[in-house]
Amino acid sequence: MFYQVYIRSFADASGDGVGDLAGIRTRLPHLVDLGIDALWITPFYPSPMADHGYDVADPRGVEPTFGDLPGFDALLADAHAAGLKVTVDLVPNHSSSAHVWFAEALASAPGSPARARYFFRDGRGVDGSEPPNNWPSVFGGPAWTRVPDGQWYLHLFAPEQPDLDFGHPEVVADLEETLHFWLRRGVDGFRIDVAHGMAKPDGLPDMVPAEDTGLFADDGPGDLRFDQDGVHALHRRVRAVLDQYDDRMAVGEVWVFDDERLAAYLRPDELHLAFNFRLLTADWDAASLRSAVEHSLATVEPTPAPACWVLSNHDRPRHVTRYGGGELGTRRARAAALLQLALPGVAYVYNGDELGMPDVDLPDEVLQDPIWERSGRTERGRDGCRVPVPWAGDAPAYDFSAASDTWLPMPAGWGPLTAQAQAGDPASMLSLYRTALALRRTSPVFAGADVQWLPAPEGCLAFRRSGGLVCLVNLSGAPVPLPEGEVLLSSEPVTDGAVPVDAAVWLHG
Ligand code: GLC
Repeated sequence: MFYQVYIRSFADASGDGVGDLAGIRTRLPHLVDLGIDALWITPFYPSPMADHGYDVADPRGVEPTFGDLPGFDALLADAHAAGLKVTVDLVPNHSSSAHVWFAEALASAPGSPARARYFFRDGRGVDGSEPPNNWPSVFGGPAWTRVPDGQWYLHLFAPEQPDLDFGHPEVVADLEETLHFWLRRGVDGFRIDVAHGMAKPDGLPDMVPAEDTGLFADDGPGDLRFDQDGVHALHRRVRAVLDQYDDRMAVGEVWVFDDERLAAYLRPDELHLAFNFRLLTADWDAASLRSAVEHSLATVEPTPAPACWVLSNHDRPRHVTRYGGGELGTRRARAAALLQLALPGVAYVYNGDELGMPDVDLPDEVLQDPIWERSGRTERGRDGCRVPVPWAGDAPAYDFSAASDTWLPMPAGWGPLTAQAQAGDPASMLSLYRTALALRRTSPVFAGADVQWLPAPEGCLAFRRSGGLVCLVNLSGAPVPLPEGEVLLSSEPVTDGAVPVDAAVWLHG
């Protein structure tokens, strides 16, 4: 059971309105009470924050806003003492444009060795004034930016995130050094950013233009920016480093929806886990969710990896909001939590999911995601799901920070959403998560890696785990009969032998 800490928004100890490493230390008791096993902390490395830390200027340091290396070591020691493992983000696909290598590349002539660590190319057309190919950036606009001497460099994301060329031995060696650096400090593993992106096809050919070729779409095989076969050699290099240490792991952010192609990342000498984004992208209906589960299980079946379930993260609207928002969205999110946590394998919870946080409708002037500007202000980007977590009290910043002015504003009216307000309420989302996680951790009914589908009323999902757990989710428009068995937990009260609409129940059947 992993918990994703989006560092800017989890807890701020320094009082500047931005979360930090010391803040995470103060909230470890919350994570222990919740019942998680491991943390994933999003990037806290030196960064100009063009993409909030996913633009890394030095992968072996700490951004002063977030703390320092001794502070990281202290967090690691505290987490380990509390029985929690710690994984950190690895961002290999690109560096920040503020990385020394990129500065060196810009200061060097076209064709020089310093440029060979990135993808610098001459342009096409008259005077090379057209980009070298037609690839779009995931964040909007072309994936190329021109430098004053006329060459262009590739950036699949923002211009401040130039792609590194892993064909260059120094780039690979430096990644290995970064792995060793954090492994020696004692981290338990890595979440690998854009793990399907580090290999580019020879010659960087044009791709067939698609309506939406963004990372956030269902990338098809025609998308030459991602999922190139050469990426697997890199994963084997990463795995070889991890295997030099005891009990370390890597999970990949792999936006690949073809089961076989995704499974290739989970071969015994590659990643230990790959997020399966099908739950994150499925609609709230029985057919979509069942298909998400089936594909996720089919993906891992031929591999040594367990399935890896994700409902929300820092790149997508939160599921409370995706499922309709308000009371409806919350009710469905409660049911979805029981679905996610009933499934065999690894589950990731995004900070605030356990409180039922929704997305926030932020005004234009506070938006910070590069997507907003890069899309010509047509796409609002991901800030809405990144608002700081409310811990206690009745007014912003709800004990997230001593400052009331937080990096993204927190709305009024979140008092009832705070961890403090929910802790004592047995009907709260937090209590549901705590109970569910405790059962999942201790009850033998969760044994077994397979899912046996059970006959269920139209619009419902029902399955059994070999340990005896039965999970029923009612996505139909009417109450359905409660299956036989002892009720272990339900997302809504079950009375008169019926499971209400948009509710889930766990039974020992
Ligand atoms: C991943 C991260 C996302 C980031 C992008 C570029 O998709 O999850 O937040 O913007 O990579 O690093």
